[in-house]
Amino acid sequence: MKKARIGIINVSDRASKGIYEDIPGKAIVETLDEYLISEWESEYSVLPDEQDQLEAKMIEMADKKDCCLIVTSGGTGPALRDVTPEATEAVCQKMMPGFGELMRQESLKFVPTAILSRQTAGIRNNTLIVNLPGKPKAIRECLDAVFPAIPYCIDLINGPYLECNPKVIQAFRPKVVS
Ligand code: MTE
Repeated sequence: MKKARIGIINVSDRASKGIYEDIPGKAIVETLDEYLISEWESEYSVLPDEQDQLEAKMIEMADKKDCCLIVTSGGTGPALRDVTPEATEAVCQKMMPGFGELMRQESLKFVPTAILSRQTAGIRNNTLIVNLPGKPKAIRECLDAVFPAIPYCIDLINGPYLECNPKVIQAFRPKVVS
């Protein structure tokens, strides 16, 4: 079976300059390692909040590196330099607003400032791109909410078959009626 490749982009001015340790990127890798029992490998990047750089990296990961999924963290708030959703929208042909809706709904159970998140998701050819917030704790909360739908979404865009550990996360694939 084809090994799945997953792109991880930590979007942070400070992490990209080495002022912050890249905790969000590591949190995403650890979470995906816990979820997935099928083989996968990561394409990893830490970038500043610069829209052109983010778009170029998303395009490279999707088109050249053949990532079936790209997960970003950070840059989704209202601050002037937050441009991750704009970069995502610019490189996708289809937006998947349900992801942002569910992540905000879930995050609101923890913090009222969840409404400040503009997280979204979209499809570029055979790649699903999902934005997560920058806080490591928020990353897990949001991934736990949306990941059950991700393997089926990737099936629908002709990506590799992602198999999850049912003890950790229950992926849902609707039964095909013939
Ligand atoms: N979601 C969860 N689950 N937990 C949080 O602490 N912080 C919010 C929101 N979503 C938060 C959250 C805040 S304060 C902001 S500004 C936005 O995510 C955007 O965060 P980002 O700039 O790191 O993307």
